[in-house]
Amino acid sequence: MAESMKGLHRTHRCAELSVKNVGETVTVMGWVQKNRNKGGIIFVDLRDRSGLLQIIFEGKDISEEGFAKAEKLRSEFVVAVTGVVTKREGAVNSNLATGEIEIRANDIRILSESDTPPFPIEENSKTKEELRLKYRYLDLRRPDIQKNLIMRSKVATLTRQFLADEGFLEIETPLLNKSTPEGARDYLVPSRVHPGTFYALPQSPQLFKQLLMVSGYDRYFQIAKCFRDEDLRADRQPEFTQIDMELSFVDVDDVIDVNERLLQKMFKETIGVDVQLPIQRMTYAEAMDRFGSDKPDTRFGMELKNVTDVVKGCEFGVFTGAIEQGGSVRGINAKGQGNMPRKKIDALTAFAKDFGAKGLAYIQIQEDGTIKSSFAKFMTEDEMQALINAMEGEKGDLLLFAADKDKVVFDVLGNLRLELARQLELLDKNVYKFLWVTEFPLFEWSEEQNRYVAMHHPFTMPMDEDIHMLDSDPGKVRAKAYDIILNGTEIGGGSVRIHQDDIQEKMFEKLGFTTEQAYDRFGFLLTAFKYGVPPHAGLAYGFDRLIMLMAKEDSIREVIAFPKVKDASCLMSDAPNVVDDIQLEELNIDIKKVEEEQ
Ligand code: AMO
Ligand code: AMP
Repeated sequence: MAESMKGLHRTHRCAELSVKNVGETVTVMGWVQKNRNKGGIIFVDLRDRSGLLQIIFEGKDISEEGFAKAEKLRSEFVVAVTGVVTKREGAVNSNLATGEIEIRANDIRILSESDTPPFPIEENSKTKEELRLKYRYLDLRRPDIQKNLIMRSKVATLTRQFLADEGFLEIETPLLNKSTPEGARDYLVPSRVHPGTFYALPQSPQLFKQLLMVSGYDRYFQIAKCFRDEDLRADRQPEFTQIDMELSFVDVDDVIDVNERLLQKMFKETIGVDVQLPIQRMTYAEAMDRFGSDKPDTRFGMELKNVTDVVKGCEFGVFTGAIEQGGSVRGINAKGQGNMPRKKIDALTAFAKDFGAKGLAYIQIQEDGTIKSSFAKFMTEDEMQALINAMEGEKGDLLLFAADKDKVVFDVLGNLRLELARQLELLDKNVYKFLWVTEFPLFEWSEEQNRYVAMHHPFTMPMDEDIHMLDSDPGKVRAKAYDIILNGTEIGGGSVRIHQDDIQEKMFEKLGFTTEQAYDRFGFLLTAFKYGVPPHAGLAYGFDRLIMLMAKEDSIREVIAFPKVKDASCLMSDAPNVVDDIQLEELNIDIKKVEEEQ
């Protein structure tokens, strides 16, 4: 039977005790990790969120009744133990923070019993993720996940302290909003009071934080829940958290400055990593040209080389054809991979095709200097040598080429570069490489919608020197937008916002909105801007992604207490789920029966 807490007070967490406490009588509480009954003496490892502590029950210290209770203990029973801290008599356990001490128990209460858990509560669990997520409350007892969530809490606290010191105010913005699509699909909430209408959950607090600038709050931040109905990946959840901020009377450099100092503090004070300031900056154009990506992983080289000019006169139709179509030929040099077996090159080709490549041309420079290539027969020896020189190819190297429209070439080689780095184990999780990517294009052409869409969002300011091209050449206009990249992951992004109505109107026009449509969607913001709006800019971090990298995890699920799985469901609670008919009636909602597909 479960006993109560009456008259009992915890004095310490398990791993807060050390040799300094020897001789003290203490009371600890937690879960039984392990118990060994050696006849007259029982050893128990007690666990709480601080760690493990060894407890010893022996007849000479404890009543018969107490000893009998200790004999009943099983894994995950919750107990309170009072006893005396002593130096270990047996071998010291150097793996344990409390490895030099033990508690000799003189009283015990069983606060609750436990069924046998469906998997052992231990570090580096080999349990399948589905089972862990079904019993997430047990999974969350494991020390590695606890470490992650403790780190997450610490970073949140540091962020609040730092931003408060910098004059930011923490202000909440609503979760029930009007739908103003910002890119991803919205999550909708039906209104009971206004039948047929819906609230949308925020994809980010973007419009509200801009309104707070109009209202004069000057510097705002919020650790904000955001909702996006997109396809999930390891670094994407349907609901996730941003560290969101907005500042008035600033330009790009001011936002970057305060955020570099914030990152420096976070990394130093949680994981002891020194972030060297200033963080490297690279324009979007340079990032694409050198890495084929707007979020380059700069922990390793293997940069793209543009060899269009070198091969434009050759007889290889794959290359010249792409160039004639306005595309390019680029390559990467996989150093030391010249002897890669054909099978592996074929696998890389298949990988490249997944990203839209029509093929993958290669040159293998073998250790003895002989050359194997998928297109040597189309090239003169001189042309081949010129190409190898341009790629800085040496004995033992593997050169891989893609020829296509720039967009495809970048996508293929950018991803191939990462795939090779994974295969060659070049991605060291202990190295933290930060990078600002700046000067993003303002617009992106959408083939689907046959119109320009905003690359960041419709409120992003064009660069001063490009404003004159808004009409003549919108595709060329660069934006005052910036992303912060860490080891190839976009951990945050933001921009300077438009605060002039003529530029904002032009922006909507280019995006294909009539004034009426723009007012219909964003009217409250556009009207607010008529009443004195300060120049402003901001940024938001993906908080989960940031913690994932700090914790050296591969998925944000490992740093979110109750995450969802790929199909956006929760394996523990079974959300989403059907609701009672009466709830639907109140909301005036009829569910269309979907015919089972054949
Ligand atoms: P953006 O859309 O770039 O900008 O989002 C900011 C950061 O949020 C993270 N993120 C996600 N993390 C987990 N799961 C997701 N589904 C997900 N989607 C985005 C990324 C990203 O860099 N309002 C603007 C910011 C601004 O301009 O101030 C915004 O939301 O790390
Ligand atoms: P093919 O002449 O089609 O047999 O192609 C010769 C070589 O060029 C093969 O290694 C193909 O994988 C490669 N290749 C085909 N199309 C492309 C392309 N667009 N870019 C790079 N390599 C290609």
